[in-house]
Amino acid sequence: APLWLVVPAAGQGRRMGADRPKQYLALGGRPVLARTLARLHEAFPGARLCLCLDPQDARFDPAWVPFAHWRRVGGGAERVDSVANALAAIRAEAGDDDLVLVHDVARPCVTTADLRRLHAVLSADSVGGLLAAPVADTMKRDDGAGRVATTEPRAGLWHALTPQGFRYGLLRRALAAAREAGVTVTDEASAVEALGASPRLVAGRRDNLKITHPEDLALAELILAAQARQAPA
Ligand code: CTP
Ligand code: MG
Repeated sequence: APLWLVVPAAGQGRRMGADRPKQYLALGGRPVLARTLARLHEAFPGARLCLCLDPQDARFDPAWVPFAHWRRVGGGAERVDSVANALAAIRAEAGDDDLVLVHDVARPCVTTADLRRLHAVLSADSVGGLLAAPVADTMKRDDGAGRVATTEPRAGLWHALTPQGFRYGLLRRALAAAREAGVTVTDEASAVEALGASPRLVAGRRDNLKITHPEDLALAELILAAQARQAPA
């Protein structure tokens, strides 16, 4: 069965506050988008890619896509809408049991080792799951007025990372149900959870950073440099 990759890349990068969406900022001399796609391709050279882009986007260059099988899909209002558009676009070709991995374009530091391990685990799992990292900091909940209301037990808490991977049929049903219910989901797993299923948590590296705020770009450069030293290509 084919492996499908969905890469939502239709965001505007408002929190970044740069002169362009963050996927087009240079990271070690290459656009974030090109770096993320290169990592995915290294792990899954034969996968089929759906790249969600803002239809107004004039910066995208197809030369950044290393995949032989790929298509461009229009982005939606929210991330979940972009992913839903991608799933609709491949409806005629995707089988219900095909595995779909969804990965944020803003996570260029995901390692090929984590990608391959996630794929191996999910290939043998009937529900699906996600890369995740245990929470390291003590978690406080505020009282709405700048003071601590409670300290949340940290044990058992995880950061949800991407990729998140599910069978095509399940993911499509989950996103459709979330839309019908009018609930905002910020990741695929929470839509699947709402159907009563329990996605598998696959422990991944904590340096799988999502570039979100201005300081994250320099951090991502350091992470990529450190990874290159740890495992010279
Ligand atoms: N994304 C998307 N379509 C949207 C919104 C977001 O494809 N309508 C993508 C982004 O391009 C990103 C991922 O979803 O790869 C995670 O979103 P986020 O980190 O929030 O990126 P932005 O929405 O671009 O940033 P911001 O929220 O700061 O504007
Ligand atoms: Mg956003």
